[in-house]
Amino acid sequence: MARVYNFSAGPATLPEPVLEQAQAELLSWHDTGVSVLEMSHRGEHFTDIAEQLEADFRELLSVPHDYQVLFLQGGATAQFSLIPQNLLGDKAKACYVNTGFWSEKAIEYAGYHCQVVVSASSVASGFQSIPDTAGWFIDREAAYLHYTANETINGVEFFNIPDSAGLPLVSDMSSNILTQELDISRFGMIYAGAQKNMGPSGVTVVVANGELLAKADAKLAPLFNYAEQARHKSLLNTPPTFNWYLTGLVLQWTKSQGGVAAFARRSADKAARLYQVIDQSSLYINSVNRDCRSRMNIPFTLAESALEACFLEQAEANGLVGLKGHRLAGGLRASLYNAMPEQGVKALVEFMAEFERVH
Ligand SMILES: Cc1ncc(COP(=O)(O)O)c(C=O)c1O
Repeated sequence: MARVYNFSAGPATLPEPVLEQAQAELLSWHDTGVSVLEMSHRGEHFTDIAEQLEADFRELLSVPHDYQVLFLQGGATAQFSLIPQNLLGDKAKACYVNTGFWSEKAIEYAGYHCQVVVSASSVASGFQSIPDTAGWFIDREAAYLHYTANETINGVEFFNIPDSAGLPLVSDMSSNILTQELDISRFGMIYAGAQKNMGPSGVTVVVANGELLAKADAKLAPLFNYAEQARHKSLLNTPPTFNWYLTGLVLQWTKSQGGVAAFARRSADKAARLYQVIDQSSLYINSVNRDCRSRMNIPFTLAESALEACFLEQAEANGLVGLKGHRLAGGLRASLYNAMPEQGVKALVEFMAEFERVH
């Protein structure tokens, strides 16, 4: 069957040249006669792959030298627990901004380890907005301030780095990493699961300021201690080697396409195209405030909700898949990550216009 356009929120569409390269190299990596799947993670070939992975990531996001880059397991969800355990130091509290489903999860998990101060919340708006930063309550006794840069389910994205009033700023960038240039030095730590803009699931990147990492709870087992992971180049135990390799291929592809600056422009254009169709229509509805509408994940409903099943069925028949909304949110959602080509968005908006005309 021909490849379709996959709008899934993650694991998500991967660049076709990356899949082709992985396929071509699967049996014998770089003429070694050995598959990446079969290599020792301590051998020279895999060491090359790992070093290139880190170098490319650092280059793409201009990561400063005093920041560590880790490639961990457990997804962003594991970091929800590891962040307080590693960053609290002698503090008992941490500040969190609540802008949607993933913020709430981060808050819930942090609650196992510390007192959570909710600095601001958009729950009253049904998570359709970002609370005005002027009104955030930032507790100076807290160890850090956490926010979710892009809410994958609610479709809400920060376009500016918020002021953390001197606290180390920590951000979950799972669904918008590598889609905008970042001044990493403004952050204590950022983290992201790879399975949206960066590769397959099974890899989580953590970028953290070296000084901040020294605060980890001494009772933490090394595997869960960011400073220990940094000391061992994330190789304390066997990493998911194939996933690191594939992530590396995606980073090389990202560079070949013009890097993060090019994807910032492309993401804005792709999202604008889809929002335009939604806003001009009387069938499609997206209620997120315009100043924080996500470029990555665009949730929408139909004015006649009974038509949703028909929409999904016909979209699939037209080679447009992965458009069903999150199981908790319902409705529909189109995710437009870096690997979604402009042609895919064009096909989607044309389908949506035709569907509206017919119905
Ligand atoms: C913003 C955000 N944070 C955290 C997660 C959880 O990631 P994982 O399932 O890899 O733990 C997701 C997953 O979609 C997400 O979109």
